[in-house]
Amino acid sequence: MDKFQKIVDFIKEQYPQKEFISLHEPVFIGNERKYVLDAIDSTFVSSVGAYVNRFEDMMAEITGAKYAIAIVNGTNALHLGLLLANVQRDDEVISQALTFIATANAISYIGAKPVFIDVDRDTLGMSPLALTTFLETNAELRADGTYNKKTGKRIAACVPMHTFGLPCKIDEIALICERWKINLVEDAAESLGSFYKGKHTGVYGKVGVFSFNGNKTVTCGGGGALVTDDESIAKRAKHLTTQAKVAHKWEFVHDEIGYNYRMPNLNAALACAQLEQLTKFVENKRALATKYIEFFKGLAVTFITEPIDAKSNYWLNAVLLNDLTQRNEFLAYTNERGVMTRPVWELMNRLPMFEDCQTDDLTNSIFIADRLVNIPSGFRV
Ligand SMILES: Cc1ncc(COP(=O)(O)O)c(C=O)c1O
Repeated sequence: MDKFQKIVDFIKEQYPQKEFISLHEPVFIGNERKYVLDAIDSTFVSSVGAYVNRFEDMMAEITGAKYAIAIVNGTNALHLGLLLANVQRDDEVISQALTFIATANAISYIGAKPVFIDVDRDTLGMSPLALTTFLETNAELRADGTYNKKTGKRIAACVPMHTFGLPCKIDEIALICERWKINLVEDAAESLGSFYKGKHTGVYGKVGVFSFNGNKTVTCGGGGALVTDDESIAKRAKHLTTQAKVAHKWEFVHDEIGYNYRMPNLNAALACAQLEQLTKFVENKRALATKYIEFFKGLAVTFITEPIDAKSNYWLNAVLLNDLTQRNEFLAYTNERGVMTRPVWELMNRLPMFEDCQTDDLTNSIFIADRLVNIPSGFRV
């Protein structure tokens, strides 16, 4: 407990002006008010407006993707990304057991079935070795794609996730997907501002998606983005997010089933002001991570650092306790003393709606789920 008290004291020192220290909260210290008021004054508060276009330009520039499309939230961006990657009902989609529920939910919206494989301990993201092992054991590459030999279903896509902003080994995963003719959809919801081998996360696959939820590094209340280098995908994304309306000055004609998935201009105004501060936010968060690294060295608690070849935004910092019992003691101790900490998500295959999904060896996922705790990571003013 002495060790836990030292941790509580250290975290409180980082946020001296706070009584209760949350895991992550937004800060609005730039042009947020100005842009939101401007959007209101313009009367363009809904899904058309200058800020939506500006947001898309900014996202393309930040990520290095050719195109960025503003979406109403990250979950819907994933749903759309999977549709654009040609995932269809009864297909299978490989993802990781250790992820946020939205990844698996989006796959299910289409009527496809997730398959959950293991993560790496250093990245907390999809393991390229686990992906290769799963495919070599279970899959068959045919002329029209890869099929699961056990279920007979097509494996249409693979969705790795950059957990807590730590980039996974996405270049290796991209190569494996290419070899097996599986479309890669990157769930980069948590990794805005994170790079792998000099490239921004989210741009390695056919499409990548980001979230701007209130708990993220950059927020606009609720929002998402889809990035791609493929012009036809970008055009189709815009079309599908705007109810598949055929462009015309006054006629209302829609040529397929579309979605009301476009980010409103009001949210985009907030997003633009926040994106202007992305570098500052990430630097602030990385400075905190550096302090944590030094501190935890002295305590012999494993603080999870950015993997080799990666630059992480350190969205949510994480430590590993010795075992499940110690993890639970630590969660109780910190939360009772005004320091918010949280365990990682329950593994997807343990949730009732995904219990029947195919899984592979999940040793690392189980190890992490038993030990990992997120600690306060927000911007320090
Ligand atoms: C990994 C992951 N995927 C998807 C999402 C969904 O994003 P949103 O909350 O914007 O719908 C989130 C975050 O909320 C996330 O953490």
